[in-house]
Amino acid sequence: MAGNRTFTMIKPDAVSANNIGNILAMIEKAGFRIRAMKFTRLSRVDAETFYAVHKERPFFGELVDYMISGPIVAAILEKDNAVEDFRKLIGATDPAEAAEGTIRKLYAKSKAENAVHGSDSDENAEIECSFHFAGREIY
Ligand code: CMP
Repeated sequence: MAGNRTFTMIKPDAVSANNIGNILAMIEKAGFRIRAMKFTRLSRVDAETFYAVHKERPFFGELVDYMISGPIVAAILEKDNAVEDFRKLIGATDPAEAAEGTIRKLYAKSKAENAVHGSDSDENAEIECSFHFAGREIY
């Protein structure tokens, strides 16, 4: 059965473009409830650990440098079928391929600076929620 939680980050490009509010509004309008949220800046070790699954990819260095280039918003989101529905809401990794009306179509600049992260499976959602919010109260 599909889980009801996913994890998101509003990435440095979207934060610096003043799109936190626009993106959170789309998330809430789509029926997700925000269960935990923080405004923070990742350390290099945080970003390397969070994206460890991509460490052999050619873009890993660029991805880490970008993710530590400015503050982010991290959040736990709840909804039935959360992982799949959130991935539909954010659209394809590359904004050029993202569907009309998706967050990345509206706000991402490129494949690297792509505005938001969304977990790709229920298992990774739990790992990513714990990575950012372990030991913190979830409301
Ligand atoms: P995200 O959903 O956070 O998960 C992995 C990230 O790697 C992805 O979003 C992109 O930001 C980044 N990424 C994926 N493919 C590329 C690429 N070809 N070049 C640069 N960054 C990429």
